[in-house]
Amino acid sequence: MSSRRDAEKRLRELRAELQQHNYRYYVLDEPSVPDSEYDRLMRELKALETEHPELVTADSPSQRVGGAAAPEFGEVRHAVPMLSLDNAFSDEDVQDFDRRAREKLEADAIEYVAEPKLDGLAISLRYEDGVLARGATRGDGTTGEDVTANVRTVRAIPLKLLSTGWPKVLEVRGEVYMPKKGFEALNKALAARGEKTYVNPRNTAAGSLRQLDPRITAERPLEFYAYAWGEVQPDKLPRRHSEVLEKFRSWGLRVNPEIKTVEGAEGCLAYYRAIGKKRDRLPYEIDGVVYKVDRLDHREELGFVAKAPRWAVAHKFPAQEEMTVLKAVDFQVGRTGALTPTARLEPVFVGGVTVSNATLHNMDEIERKDIRLGDTVVVRRAGDVIPEVVSVVMERRPKGARRVALPKICPVCGSDVVRPEGEAVARCSGGLYCAAQRKELIRHFASRRALDIEGLGDKLIEQLVDEGIVNTPADIFKLTAKQLAELERMGEKSAQNLMDAIAKAKHTTLPRFLHALGIPEVGESTALTLAKHFGALEPLLEADEETLLAVPDVGPVVAAEIAAFFHQKHNRDVIKALRKAGVDWPAMPKRAAVAEQTLAGKTFVLTGTLASMTRDEAKERIQSLGGKVSGSVSAKTHYLVVGSEPGSKLREAERLKVPVVDEDGFRRLIGP
Ligand code: IVH
Repeated sequence: MSSRRDAEKRLRELRAELQQHNYRYYVLDEPSVPDSEYDRLMRELKALETEHPELVTADSPSQRVGGAAAPEFGEVRHAVPMLSLDNAFSDEDVQDFDRRAREKLEADAIEYVAEPKLDGLAISLRYEDGVLARGATRGDGTTGEDVTANVRTVRAIPLKLLSTGWPKVLEVRGEVYMPKKGFEALNKALAARGEKTYVNPRNTAAGSLRQLDPRITAERPLEFYAYAWGEVQPDKLPRRHSEVLEKFRSWGLRVNPEIKTVEGAEGCLAYYRAIGKKRDRLPYEIDGVVYKVDRLDHREELGFVAKAPRWAVAHKFPAQEEMTVLKAVDFQVGRTGALTPTARLEPVFVGGVTVSNATLHNMDEIERKDIRLGDTVVVRRAGDVIPEVVSVVMERRPKGARRVALPKICPVCGSDVVRPEGEAVARCSGGLYCAAQRKELIRHFASRRALDIEGLGDKLIEQLVDEGIVNTPADIFKLTAKQLAELERMGEKSAQNLMDAIAKAKHTTLPRFLHALGIPEVGESTALTLAKHFGALEPLLEADEETLLAVPDVGPVVAAEIAAFFHQKHNRDVIKALRKAGVDWPAMPKRAAVAEQTLAGKTFVLTGTLASMTRDEAKERIQSLGGKVSGSVSAKTHYLVVGSEPGSKLREAERLKVPVVDEDGFRRLIGP
């Protein structure tokens, strides 16, 4: 039992804090703490007030159903109040709810309608003579906001009811919500425009419906499901909830197809588990399920306690958002060298598990959310998704909280970390050397469009790297047949085949070699451009950013990545080792020859199989002579090159009268 003085002090604190949260939630649509924290504060407040009933005040947050109406909108008084629901958090809570109802009704078993609890915004739609006359938010349950103009932009809400038989006045109640996909797309678009993003779909639905300009609401992908009603005149609705929902359907109102009739607490709990399993796959967010007594005469008998009915309960899923403290930020290096900041957290129970690490995505996200060390943060874990830090509770920032700094060197290999201007992702520049990137890099190095080492597949690379036999691409050329034959699932024959393939791959071309190095931002076509421009490897190794910027199609980001890559001693060492192992290529045609762009301005399309070269080789050849290769025939195509078994492109070329050349003709065009 707390002393009266202590209780008074704590009550003042709790009320002030809850009032602040209410304001941020209902008026600003910008909550700073997760619902779970709000619920905890509210529970503490209610418990203290139960203990000291003499201290309850009329303006205590516990005495209200919801938030106040924002002054910008007109007020709507609900003829039938919009109630809230009591919560159940465990199987026992649900069994208790069912038992109390059975006792009061003196019934053996009760039929319930079980519904997903949508995480959106409750709305009341008033239809007069079947025409939508007004839309109102719940507000504090008694008085809401008039959002008619906005509601009218939601396509899922009929402006006129279908069919016939509806009461003269019908207030349909339900949830306006934003599907997960729409929420993600909207946040992406807002972020791209540099505008404030929303923290969750419910908050977004609320924010969208309470826009002062209905044109903005109209652009938001809002949906609606009906699940209750208010004023009905004359009251000739069917006598079961399930039947009313059926009527709603027939009048063109959307009713959630997941809604089911179940029997007893058992039926309710089975539904809870089934929906829980399905939750991630549902296209909208839910935070639990709702059970409602189906028979309306039973409901009347059960009545209400305070502001919630005795005939319904919300069975909540474990909270997916919780607060905790950010202790440190570590950087993890991924397969592609990208550095991902990871939050080290004070362990917290969220989404049904204890979480002590969460992703922070990248530096941009950290800066955008202004996350600092020691901050109290909101952590979210939804389904099987990796936990993430959603936001900072600014009110709890400790004095002097330090910003998160991007490390200057890679925590795995010590190479420089680069983050080109304007890029969100920071990367380790030790590509050829960094252990974190080894497997991915070697896989790329050996791939068909790089050095094309036949038989060196993912599984084998995995083994070679894990056993420490291959650390850099240069090690591939030191492999022996004996070493290979000793590996799992490797016969002598396949070992020898691989040795042959490796020997063959040594003789490559400069563009392929450059592509194989896996320099970030350097794909096949940039590799070709670089090879043509520099003619040899050495001048490229020495090129600074400015020199690189002079290369056609090379912009600042690409130039920075290339310069950083070749600047790393580790990478240069690996290149040296590759050359020493015998990797070579024919000299590129001298610049003068390169200048002889005999196919400049000509667009080619290839179809069918050529006998003397692969399609890639043909493509490379055309490009090296200044031509372009396109995937489909159009009026702008200059030549269609036809091999054996050509496809539909041939017909298309004939139709458009595009010149068609066979393999011999093509060889004459490209010269020796
Ligand atoms: S029934 C008297 N059914 O939950 C019962 N509410 O805590 C009135 N909600 O404000 C509500 N899905 O925003 C009901 N299927 C559902 C619901 C649902 C979501 C929300 C609604 C309401 C809150 C009640």
